[in-house]
Amino acid sequence: MDTEVKDIVSAVVEKWQGKEDALIMMLHEIQEKFGYIPRDVALDLSTKTGVPLARIYEVITFYHLFKTSPPGKHKIAVCMGTACYLKGAPQIVEKLKEILEVEEGQSTPDGLFQFETVRCLGCCGLAPVVMIDDKVYGKVRPDQVMDILSEYNK
Ligand code: FES
Repeated sequence: MDTEVKDIVSAVVEKWQGKEDALIMMLHEIQEKFGYIPRDVALDLSTKTGVPLARIYEVITFYHLFKTSPPGKHKIAVCMGTACYLKGAPQIVEKLKEILEVEEGQSTPDGLFQFETVRCLGCCGLAPVVMIDDKVYGKVRPDQVMDILSEYNK
């Protein structure tokens, strides 16, 4: 790990050490800086704070917002708000998991996609809604998912 990264970790530890919810705040700040929590950074954090690495990973996995892999290039957000849920969003989620071979909150191994579910995107009339980066796809059917993803595979 380079010194610049080590310095960032030191600064984060110095800022939060001894404060309430210090570990969570440190992890938030690290994720903000790196986009996720790299393993060597978690290890360095453990060394510098004295918090066992296993405890750090317990916290990371408990709070789903923490990521352990770099964010994918394209962010896929499937709306699981009530309207979308009732119109078939769970089937879209299943299809995406099957095609991308990832669980919710993960990125694909090639780093192309990051897959998440979100609450109402504010366009319920188009339910079920999938958003990829800034583009909204409405009334999506599971059999359209592959075609939609292929637009990003080029
Ligand atoms: S519930 Fe999906 S857009 Fe509102």
